[in-house]
Amino acid sequence: MCGIFGCVLKEGNAAPLIHASLKRLEYRGYDSVGIATISEGKIYIKKDQGKIDDVHKILNLDDLPGNIGIGHTRWATHGAPLKVNAHPHTDCTGEIVVVHNGIIENFIELKNELQNLGHNFVSKTDTEVMAHLIEETLKQNPKLTFTQAVLDSLKRVEGSYAFAIISTREPDKIVCARNESPLVLGINHQGVFCASDIPAFLAITNKAVMVNNGELAILTAQGYEIRKISDNTPITREPITIEWTPEMAVKQGYPHFMIKEIHEQPETLRNTLRMQEHYLDLLTTFLDRANEVFLVACGTSYHACLAASYMFSKLAFLPTFPVYASEFVEQCGKSVSIDSTILAVSQSGETADTIAAVTCAQQRAATILSLTNVIGSTLTRISRVYIGTQAGPEIGVAATKTFTSQLSVLAQLALKLAKKRGKVSQDEIDSLEENLQKLPDLAETIVNTQEEKIKQIAKKYADSKVFFFLGRGISTATAFEGRLKLMEIAYIPSIAFPAGESKHGPISLVENGFPVVFVCPKDECHKTLIGNIMEMKARGAHIIAVIEEGDQEIKGLADDYIEVPKGIPSVLSPIPFAVPLQLLAYYTALEKGFNPDMPRNLAKSVTVK
Ligand code: M6R
Repeated sequence: MCGIFGCVLKEGNAAPLIHASLKRLEYRGYDSVGIATISEGKIYIKKDQGKIDDVHKILNLDDLPGNIGIGHTRWATHGAPLKVNAHPHTDCTGEIVVVHNGIIENFIELKNELQNLGHNFVSKTDTEVMAHLIEETLKQNPKLTFTQAVLDSLKRVEGSYAFAIISTREPDKIVCARNESPLVLGINHQGVFCASDIPAFLAITNKAVMVNNGELAILTAQGYEIRKISDNTPITREPITIEWTPEMAVKQGYPHFMIKEIHEQPETLRNTLRMQEHYLDLLTTFLDRANEVFLVACGTSYHACLAASYMFSKLAFLPTFPVYASEFVEQCGKSVSIDSTILAVSQSGETADTIAAVTCAQQRAATILSLTNVIGSTLTRISRVYIGTQAGPEIGVAATKTFTSQLSVLAQLALKLAKKRGKVSQDEIDSLEENLQKLPDLAETIVNTQEEKIKQIAKKYADSKVFFFLGRGISTATAFEGRLKLMEIAYIPSIAFPAGESKHGPISLVENGFPVVFVCPKDECHKTLIGNIMEMKARGAHIIAVIEEGDQEIKGLADDYIEVPKGIPSVLSPIPFAVPLQLLAYYTALEKGFNPDMPRNLAKSVTVK
């Protein structure tokens, strides 16, 4: 997730306005920043790694000439957060300048093709291919207009994008285009703007024009034109008036970041499925060679590790040891050696306990692999190989979209390892791959169909003094995560354990009306789980079951149920089943009058041990 902005002004300098607008988009990414303008047929660019204010202090981002320009605030996906990878990116001639939010899936093929044609790439980004592709299109067809060349080039690009592109060939316009990544136009008496999000320009105009997937827009000081990318047909669309306050706009109209981030999961899951194969392959190779693998993390990331231990075991027959990072040094420190592999998982990549565990393992010559949402974080710097989880910045303290992104990447790794080891039949692999692709839509369906119902369930149980969260098999990890969410934002003491453990102690707490949340995918544990539900019911517990659609058996036993679409393979189930539990925690916190974005005593990134 990055922020893009562009403007064509009737008069005056564009750079200060671009700079101010990028500041308002900084919540979308903040590891590098750049601005390009055109003045008297010349391109001017300033860019560097670092937060906008820090880069501005050194470069003065307001000081570029020209009434037209584009800018970018970056959340690294391809290539480390270095100056060379900061946007804008240019073609070989420096005449075509591009900013981009999204992921170009086929960039390696395009890059190889363009390099073979003599194009010189300077960055490691996927974005740079677009500048060279337009250059090449114009070289092959010199009669094309710049806009037509952008249109033709877009037809070769696969993946998600919001582009804003300028060129000295047609220095009076910005061409922008959208597929899956957000793009919106703004318009006022000063000129026309394009941006990733409305907050970028809300301070100067509340007249906005939405750009849809598969559309391209041409911005000039006189106005805007929208066309279909597929056939260049014009589209008429009038501006609408945005009634949001600036604060609402940053949250895209949602009352809290947490609910915005829960709703973003279809998009973030789509992004994780666009992961570059070679990073997955590289990590898989290390895992395949490993003698012993420790999965190390804290909090929600630890729950992703716990789920991953089932995935690796069931699919790739690889035993792994999930360990709380805060316990790692004491529990495993001495036994770690050159033969050990650590797969550390951290949203922030800065959690002190995780970094301490990894540092200890590194000192003992172990191989360090990691998964993090923040490229350039401490964890990425101390890892041999890392993968970015592509969820975009997460602002709500409670991890939501980053959890499902971590799970999606871990499932892809387990599947790759299974393939490599030949442990699972091709049919099963095909079916799991197909099901992985369905996860974004499943998350969307769950939010669309269950949110209202979950609100009612939250209302019903909000005054409960304590909750149980139970599951069996991989759903134990889902139950742990559901418990953590409810506890940390709704402040209800909650207990989670594998359902089979009830009879070894915790069931003694149960009395009439005691709420027990069961996570019930229709997997190999389903039958036994029904036994656990019965034993809770017999003691008067109220059963809140998260079930697969049409699971009549559990429906008949539950006091309340939440349905997720059916047919999800067990190893992937924590992804869709986590979503209703996130919503349950969110709406319970609201019922109790708490701000879910800022739970007391907690910080987004815990940088103390
Ligand atoms: O940034 P990390 O993933 O390393 O953070 C780990 C935990 O601090 C984090 O998951 C925490 O438990 C959240 N509050 C969970 O919602």
